[in-house]
Amino acid sequence: MTPHSRWTPELPCVVQAPMAGVQDHRLALAVCEAGGLGSLAAAMLSPADLERELQALQAGTQRPYNVNFFCHAPPQPDAQALERWRTALSPYYASFGLPPAAAAPGAARVPFNHEAADVLEAFRPAVISFHFGLPAPDLLARVKRWGSVVLSSATTVPEALWLEAHGVDAIIAQGLEAGGHRGMFLSDDLNTQMGTFALLPQVVQATRLPVIAAGGIATPAGVAAAKALGAAAVQVGSAYLCSDEATTSPLHRAALQSEAAQHTALTRLFTGRPARGIVNRVMREMGPLNPAAPAFPVATADMAPLRAAAEAQGRNDFTPMWAGQNAGACEARPARDITRDFLHAWRTA
Ligand SMILES: Cc1cc2nc3c(=O)[nH]c(=O)nc-3n(C[C@H](O)[C@H](O)[C@H](O)COP(=O)(O)O)c2cc1C
Repeated sequence: MTPHSRWTPELPCVVQAPMAGVQDHRLALAVCEAGGLGSLAAAMLSPADLERELQALQAGTQRPYNVNFFCHAPPQPDAQALERWRTALSPYYASFGLPPAAAAPGAARVPFNHEAADVLEAFRPAVISFHFGLPAPDLLARVKRWGSVVLSSATTVPEALWLEAHGVDAIIAQGLEAGGHRGMFLSDDLNTQMGTFALLPQVVQATRLPVIAAGGIATPAGVAAAKALGAAAVQVGSAYLCSDEATTSPLHRAALQSEAAQHTALTRLFTGRPARGIVNRVMREMGPLNPAAPAFPVATADMAPLRAAAEAQGRNDFTPMWAGQNAGACEARPARDITRDFLHAWRTA
């Protein structure tokens, strides 16, 4: 099949990856105004926050933007799994003098729902992207009725074919180098996961849809390479983490700008789903894929007090520092300049 040279004529070929926890509308705005497609990460926003962020974005740009949601199935409550997790973390709680974990699990990340769609409907973003599959058919039909272009991440060829069969307009091929959560949704076998430049041409070959390459693309040369392998656009995340507009914490920024950024790993410890981040103390000591971590997003709540206690001492020991394998290339400069460099690389490749 012929690769699409562009995903749609109206939309930019450089997409700023949505990155929950390290950005708000300001990053998206800067990218949009530089000619890229800015994204708002909505996975951790309440409906009121989502509305505020969308208003700020809409007020600042006439250009198209993307709004991104998670669409996982929330797990059934599992008291035993939670107990195992609390037992595994208890030595750390004791070392900080914290009372035993008792937080209500799982509230931090809510999948896309009609409440969020109610907010979104007033804004009708040009693009809506999903991570972890797609929402229920009625929700998907609702956003498609507004005319929004729908994207979702595939980490394997079967996931790409599933997304195509379920009505997405373009596929984000998320390679193993990518920072943040693996978008995987048909299998939880990490051995199915491929690097971007193995996955991308296979997805381009297998589907009729435009394919957006994501994962490890952090330099103009990386942008050109993705285009050469048939990408219709690139989605870049980690390269924006140290940009002026990102809300990346000082601890996270310091790790990104140190030797530590050379060592990332997939870990389930912070949320319950595999996500790539800079290796820190808890990942080293517990093992990044420790089976005691309960299902997504339940693991998050009990890690939070440890994170807060360590961060109060200026330590990143329990902080998720999501970053891709090329995060060492991220630079502290305006997102506008980063975007322009990538757009230039795309145009001239
Ligand atoms: C800090 C961080 C947070 C992320 N959060 C999200 C998110 O909220 N939604 C999403 O679809 N992808 C998220 N991702 C994954 C990106 O969409 C994308 O796949 C990844 O950044 C591409 O790889 P790169 O970081 O090497 O550029 C995140 C990535 C990072 C680094």
